[in-house]
Amino acid sequence: MTQPTAIPDTQFFQSANSLNTFAPRLLDWFETDGRHDLPWQQHQTDTPNPYIVWLSEVMLQQTQVKTVLPYFARFMDSFPTVQDLAAADWEVIAEHWAGMGYYARARNLHKGAKQLAEIIDETGSFPQTLAGWEAISGVGPSTAGAIMAMGLHKYGVICDGNVKRVLTRWATIDGDITKSATTKELWALAERLTPKDNSGLFAQAMMDMGATLCVRRNPNCQLCPLKANCIAHAQGREMDYPVKAKKKPKPSKFSNALIIENAQGDILWLQRPDNGIWGGLWSLPLQFVQKLEASDLAKTSEEQPKKSQVRSNEKVYESEFTTAEQIINDWLIENNLVAKPVSNTLLEDAPIKHSLTHFHWYLQPQRVVVDNKQIAELKDKLNAADIEFKWLGQQKARDSLGLPRAMIKIIEV
Ligand code: ADE
Repeated sequence: MTQPTAIPDTQFFQSANSLNTFAPRLLDWFETDGRHDLPWQQHQTDTPNPYIVWLSEVMLQQTQVKTVLPYFARFMDSFPTVQDLAAADWEVIAEHWAGMGYYARARNLHKGAKQLAEIIDETGSFPQTLAGWEAISGVGPSTAGAIMAMGLHKYGVICDGNVKRVLTRWATIDGDITKSATTKELWALAERLTPKDNSGLFAQAMMDMGATLCVRRNPNCQLCPLKANCIAHAQGREMDYPVKAKKKPKPSKFSNALIIENAQGDILWLQRPDNGIWGGLWSLPLQFVQKLEASDLAKTSEEQPKKSQVRSNEKVYESEFTTAEQIINDWLIENNLVAKPVSNTLLEDAPIKHSLTHFHWYLQPQRVVVDNKQIAELKDKLNAADIEFKWLGQQKARDSLGLPRAMIKIIEV
């Protein structure tokens, strides 16, 4: 991210006095009322650890502090240094990450750890510049700024979602925050407000204020150190900010999740390819049965798709199908094997809904029990195609595979 060129104070709709007192007011508040005991905070040490800040910031990108805390502790326990994380098997990392969602972040974390370990090998230290951090997988401009400021105690500016909410309210910035012109304006304001010294403490205080007081719903303006100059507050319009274009409704997809079970109750699990949904994780084989747009769904005037809309025998190969799933689908058809919806009427009416970034996914668990001869045949086919698979009972799979949350929901029913 190229830092914006200086914008004159008058463009920020705030007086020079308001702009100049922002940091001291915030820092005073942080000192007395902020959180100082989060395990990744580095403002109380003279020798900050960039690994800790990088790891925690990636985890906190889309997940709340209270969810991240136990995950962070486990990561630090198992991978105390970036070299430990770089050297870890993906499976182990996936298992540590399981349940936090957005698995691309975990993949980037692993890739980023390898990049960092290599840089340290070559230069003897973590990257020391903003550009150096932005070159690491999964590190955007705000995360890079946070690491510079909090992880290295150098100058760094943050402008993440929380900061954008604080600033759009404080200065009544009316532009759509998803537009680049607004982003530029917000970065310029964030830069104007960030003190040249101690930008790490300022970043920490901004994050804390945004996360605890200037929250999306029901902001606690009475306790806010910035309320005297907050224009939205003066106008009673806190909830009008930030302005964000309404998202298009997400499309919906429907799949059967096949519980292919042997006589001992073991189930077939596949490792998904690295790219795509749940890259590298283990899941039940899926059958993509039908694709409906949200607008089609709306026509039914119901939130949930009707059972009749999920047609299990539709032989549609979608691009999301893995080779393994195509083999399994063909094998089921050749053997006249029909998977039946799990005998739970509740579920049939309401397949498991899993919302991903770009679509809602309705998963219908379907079970089929197969005999030893059929299993031997399927194993041969999967082995011939070099596919990673395992036969494991539900509990063992849960304990050892680091399953995505949707898979846990399926086997829990
Ligand atoms: N959100 C993003 N980074 C954070 C941090 N370091 N502390 C608290 N909340 C955060």
